[in-house]
Amino acid sequence: MPATLLDGKVISQEIIRDVRTRVDALVASGRRAPALAVVLVGSDPASQVYVGNKKRQCENAGITSVAHDLPADTSEATLLALVQQLNADDAIDGILVQLPLPGHLDAEKVIELIDPAKDVDGFHPYNIGRLALKMPLLRPCTPRGVMTLLERTGIDLVGKDAVVIGASNIVGRPQALELLLARATVTVCHSKTRDLAEKVRAADVVVAGVGMPNFVQGDWIKPGAVVIDVGINRLPDGKLCGDVDFERARERASWITPVPGGVGLMTVATLMQNTLDAHLKRKG
Ligand code: GUN
Repeated sequence: MPATLLDGKVISQEIIRDVRTRVDALVASGRRAPALAVVLVGSDPASQVYVGNKKRQCENAGITSVAHDLPADTSEATLLALVQQLNADDAIDGILVQLPLPGHLDAEKVIELIDPAKDVDGFHPYNIGRLALKMPLLRPCTPRGVMTLLERTGIDLVGKDAVVIGASNIVGRPQALELLLARATVTVCHSKTRDLAEKVRAADVVVAGVGMPNFVQGDWIKPGAVVIDVGINRLPDGKLCGDVDFERARERASWITPVPGGVGLMTVATLMQNTLDAHLKRKG
């Protein structure tokens, strides 16, 4: 029997509706709505699409979004000054600087300057450190969204073998920490990993975030495994596909995420949760 789809569209809408209900209750009690500053430097088309989605979902969630669209040649000093200004602004709960930044800007420096209490991406070393020490505060959106999807399968992750493919700061590394926090046994694979297929074949849970179309072959998937595809790749014909050979993998998996319509939508919904969380932690 083919795998059941983990429908990111339905689940992300449920999350956004839940955030909306909680925001409406705050506003009804006389408080202001949570506010997210969205900083975009330059005009990378993919980043423009992502930022557009984030602003639209803020509207749906009742969260105020404050756009800061800066030209591609913005100096580092100007960007750092903006982050400092947003850190000091009591009416801002979350700061999101869309990545990648133009080449002359140092993303690490920018991320480190963001007040960890407003770091709704969960990228600041303080927040990654908290996650690593089993005391998470603001958690990176994509891995947290993946954990929400895994919860929906009803499968107990304790002691399960999980393989994460990709070791990026945004997906693979924090994903491994999330799965470890859920007490799975975690293997992190990357471009130097040997016998990748064998490692995937042993996995109860596979999370792929490498950015290569159809990289994970269907016959690598252990029958009954849960397959989470974080990849969003554009094929020459313009269609989107993930990192996993979806059609063949779904014949073997118990649960699988589609691309599009899977993890990508969860990332934005989780950003709304993080922004509400940041507001509540700051304001009580
Ligand atoms: N670029 C790709 N994914 C992300 C994300 O989750 N947050 C930010 N800020 N930039 C990204």
